[in-house]
Amino acid sequence: LDTPHVALRAISAETVREICALETSHEQLRFVATNSVSIAQAYFEPTAEFRAIYAHEASVGFVMWRADGDASSRFLWRLMIDHRHQGKGYGRIALRLLVEHLQGQGVRQLRLSFVAGEGGPEEFYRAFGFEPTGELLHNGEHVMRLTF
Ligand SMILES: CC(C)(COP(=O)(O)OP(=O)(O)OC[C@H]1O[C@@H](n2cnc3c(N)ncnc32)[C@H](O)[C@@H]1OP(=O)(O)O)[C@@H](O)C(=O)NCCC(=O)NCCS
Repeated sequence: LDTPHVALRAISAETVREICALETSHEQLRFVATNSVSIAQAYFEPTAEFRAIYAHEASVGFVMWRADGDASSRFLWRLMIDHRHQGKGYGRIALRLLVEHLQGQGVRQLRLSFVAGEGGPEEFYRAFGFEPTGELLHNGEHVMRLTF
């Protein structure tokens, strides 16, 4: 999982505190859980997989996904880039790396849900190619999907 400057890497006992210290801006807190909470939730979700996002050898973000019904689909559960590293293209490249990784496993679809609102990630996902399915989850989140 490597391109010249951005890589998805496994989190270890040595790096977990550093990854948990990555954070969004205060205004973005309602759009994504903290990495500590995400890793704790993964402990209870057998299909969860997560990686740290590195850029130029520094940790800059976190991504987590899980099963989504059938083997050809995955659900993007979390994606975040630390507020000090946003807007540099890292989020988009990390997502592309994840899609390539999943393609290698025969996956053909990635779904996600997001919290709508000012400063939220909807436009980021649309620009990447995700399309709304029209589905609204019980928690008020909107579903989007990308096929590849
Ligand atoms: C959403 C997020 C992961 C994007 O990561 P990023 O590294 O800042 O995004 P990139 O720099 O790769 O941006 C790629 C493109 O999306 C656009 N974009 C990024 N965030 C955007 C936003 N919130 N609204 C509109 N456009 C956005 C960028 O302008 C860029 O477009 P361009 O190429 O035309 O300039 C990051 O902003 C983040 O962590 N947000 C808070 C947590 C969150 O909402 N996560 C999603 C939970 S479902």
